[in-house]
Parts: sequence; C-alpha cells; structure tokens
Amino acid sequence: MFSTVIGTDVLTAKRYLQTGETVGIPTETVYGLAANALDADAVLKIFKVKNRPHFDPLIVHTHSVDEIGNYAEEIPATAQKLIESFMPGPLTILLKKRSIIPDLVTSGLDNVAIRIPNHKLTLELLKQLDFPLAAPSANPFGYISPTTAQHVYDQLQGRIPYILDGGPTAVGVESTIVGFENNEPVVYRLGGLAIEDIEKVVGKVRVSLNESSNPQSPGMLKSHYAPKKRLHILEQDSDEYRKVFETNNDGIIAFDKYVEGVDTDRQILLSPAGNLNEAAKNLFAAMRKLDSSAVNEIWAVKFPDAGLGRAINDRLKRARA
Ligand code: TXA
Ligand code: MG
Repeated sequence: MFSTVIGTDVLTAKRYLQTGETVGIPTETVYGLAANALDADAVLKIFKVKNRPHFDPLIVHTHSVDEIGNYAEEIPATAQKLIESFMPGPLTILLKKRSIIPDLVTSGLDNVAIRIPNHKLTLELLKQLDFPLAAPSANPFGYISPTTAQHVYDQLQGRIPYILDGGPTAVGVESTIVGFENNEPVVYRLGGLAIEDIEKVVGKVRVSLNESSNPQSPGMLKSHYAPKKRLHILEQDSDEYRKVFETNNDGIIAFDKYVEGVDTDRQILLSPAGNLNEAAKNLFAAMRKLDSSAVNEIWAVKFPDAGLGRAINDRLKRARA
C-alpha cells in the first residue's frame, strides 16, 4: 500500500521510476501507468496494479525519434513517413522488436508498440530517464481511460506512489495504432490521430479493427472502455426514443444538440460548438460523470463517422459490448 500523492514534480516521478515503481503520467491522449520498459519486474507491477491479463501487450514510450532504433529494427519507409509527420503525437506504431525489450512488454509478440507522447512534462521526464516507459492507460482493466490526474487517483489510490499531474488531457482518446504489412500501413485501433490525416501522408490505408474477444489477436478486445452502468447507442434521435426517455431516468451523451423533451440535467453535450476534437476530449469524463450520477443507464447518440468521430463511435461500441 502507498499513500498516493498527486504532484507536478518530474524529479519525484523520476526517482520512483528509477527504483522500479509505477507512476501515473500525463500524455496528450489519456493518462498512463508507467514503469521502466526494460525491467520485467517493474513491468509486472503494471499488470498487477491494473489487474491486466498478461496477453495484452504494452506501448513503449520514448522522447525522441532518434531513440526508436534502439528498441525496434527494420523501420519500413511508410513508417518513417508517419514518424516524421506525427511524432510526437497521438500515434503508436508497431515495429519489429529488439531483444532489449522484455517479452512481457509485447506479450511474446515479435512487434513492439512505440509512441512519443506529446506532453511537456512527460517528455521532460522521459529525457531525464535512461530507459523508455511501458505505459497502458491508467485505469483498472476494461474500465474507462483516465483523462485527469484525479481520475487516476480515484481508481488507483493506494496502489501507486505518485501521479504526475499534467492537467486534463488535450486529445482525450487513446493513440491511433498503425502496423505495417509489407510496407503497407494498417490501422489496428482508431484513436486521436484521424485516418484522414494519416492518408494525407501515406495514401489510402486499410483499417483492420479487432472486434473479437480472442486475446491472441493483437490490439483490442471487444469489450473495453466500459462504464459500470449499461450503455446503449442511439443510432438516431427520434420521437420513439423520446417517449422512452420520458418514462425512465437514463442519462444521455450527445454531440452538439440535446435530445428534445428530455431534462437537460441528465444530458451531456460533448461539444455545443459541433467540434469533433472537442467532443473526443470530453468523452471519457462524460462517461465517468454519468456512471457515478443518479441516472439508471446511459445512452449515447451516434457521432458523425468522420475525423475523431470514428474513434468516438468505436469507443462507444466497445463500452456497450
Ligand atoms: O494513447 C495511448 O495509446 C495510451 C497512452 C497512455 O499512451 N496508452 C494506451 O495503452 O492506450 P493501452 O495499453 O491501454 O492500449 C494499448 C493497446 C492495447 O490494446 C494493446 O493490445 C495494443 O495497444 N498493443 C500494444 N503492444 C502491441 C503489440 N506489440 N502488438 C499489437 N498490439 C499491441
Ligand atoms: Mg487501455
């Protein structure tokens, strides 16, 4: 047991990490639960703290493009283009791992997931360390990812010594994961970097989202990011649904317009201005808020399938499963 402290001191975070402990760290996507990626004993603690199954591999975080070659080999030309265009940023790439990365980090897979988070405090921390950080999202396995230091504290209090507080995260959904099959980029997880932006750099990409619950396949499980309450997706706002809401006490998450005829105090708009990036930033906090409120179940009105709307819809689908 620890008495968990929230603070802004990079040096404190650094000391805990150097002694093999886990620390909550901010990134631009969601908060991570970090440990020395080159130390299997430290990495093991991440799995324990999160209650995470060992078959779910971790992303390795570093501070500079120049470091990537230390952990991965054979960087395909398209990967190089993505690295140059989007790192640091909400992009994770899968590359052939070097043996310095413990098998526990990659769950025995040949590839390692690498990302450079775009957050000032964490980049500073990574620069001061002489090892990269393995870090999954800092939530108990299967629950909603944290977008503030307080979210991390609420769920991991007592299990970790320190949470580095970098404010609310700017992007709000996890990084987009891209792998390469014969030099061709394949998106395995929709996330904070929109497909449209990736395609501007490397042309049309294939999207291969794992929706099975087969833990052997890399990437994502079907049920994830889930609140404790039941979540439903409203394909379209309609009179029929309004009648349902009149008689129940369910909460609603919507993009820019309230569902008419339902009290607005049990509805959350993710972006009244109609901006999908802002909506993504507010998604997980809204899910948490309704999850701990008096509403019975949660309904989310489907988002436009463009830009970060695709990642939002993906998270909603998994939260519903
Ligand atoms: O934005 C993010 O990516 C955040 C922040 C903290 O960096 N991290 C994050 O980690 O979302 P996590 O562990 O919650 O999700 C990482 C996903 C997992 O679903 C995992 O299966 C996949 O990345 N992954 C990691 N390493 C992999 C590998 N070697 N091959 C295939 N998939 C991998
Ligand atoms: Mg996660």
